[in-house]
Amino acid sequence: MILAVGVDTVHLPSFRDQLADPASAFVIGTFTVAERVSSEARPGGDAARHLAVRFAAKEAFLKAWDGAYWGREPVMETVELTDIEVVSDPWGRPSLQLHGEVARAVAKLGEVRAHVSLSHDGDSAVAFVTLEARS
Ligand SMILES: CC(C)(COP(=O)(O)OP(=O)(O)OC[C@H]1O[C@@H](n2cnc3c(N)ncnc32)[C@H](O)[C@@H]1OP(=O)(O)O)[C@@H](O)C(=O)NCCC(=O)NCCS
Repeated sequence: MILAVGVDTVHLPSFRDQLADPASAFVIGTFTVAERVSSEARPGGDAARHLAVRFAAKEAFLKAWDGAYWGREPVMETVELTDIEVVSDPWGRPSLQLHGEVARAVAKLGEVRAHVSLSHDGDSAVAFVTLEARS
C-alpha cells in the first residue's frame, strides 16, 4: 500500500552558491561521507549537481514521511539529514537508506520501503519519493 509521496526541486545555481560559502557547515551536516565521495567521483566533475539531487531526495523523503502522518503531529521536530542517504548501485540506480533516529522512527510505521527517482537537467534537480507499507 502507498502511504504517501513527496517531491522536491532544487535550483542548481542557488545550491552552488550555498556550497561555495566557506563558513557553511551545510555539506558536512547534510551529506554522508559516501554521498560526498561518490558525487566527487562522478564523470564530468560536477559534484554539486549530484549533491543537489541528493538534497532534493532528502527533502522529498521528508515530505513523504510527513505526508504519512497527514492530520496528525509530525513524529520528529528536527531530523539529521545524514540519516537519509542516497546510495546508487553500480549501474547508477538510486535507492534510499535510512539510519539512526530516522530509521527507528520510520520503523514505527511498520515495514516501510522508500522508493526514489532522481533527475537533473539545466538549472534544476528533482527528486520524487514514494513510501510503501509492506506489512
Ligand atoms: C535511466 C536513464 C533513462 C537516465 O537518464 P538521464 O537522462 O541520464 O537521467 P537524468 O539526468 O534525468 O537523472 C539522472 C539521475 O537518474 C538516476 N539514474 C541513473 N541511471 C538510472 C537507472 N538505470 N534507473 C533509475 N535511475 C537512474 C540517477 O540517480 C541520476 O542521478 P545521479 O547520477 O546524480 O545519481 C538512462 O541512464 C538510461 O536510459 N539507461 C538505460 C536503462 C535501461 O534501458 N534499462 C533497461 C531496463 S532495466
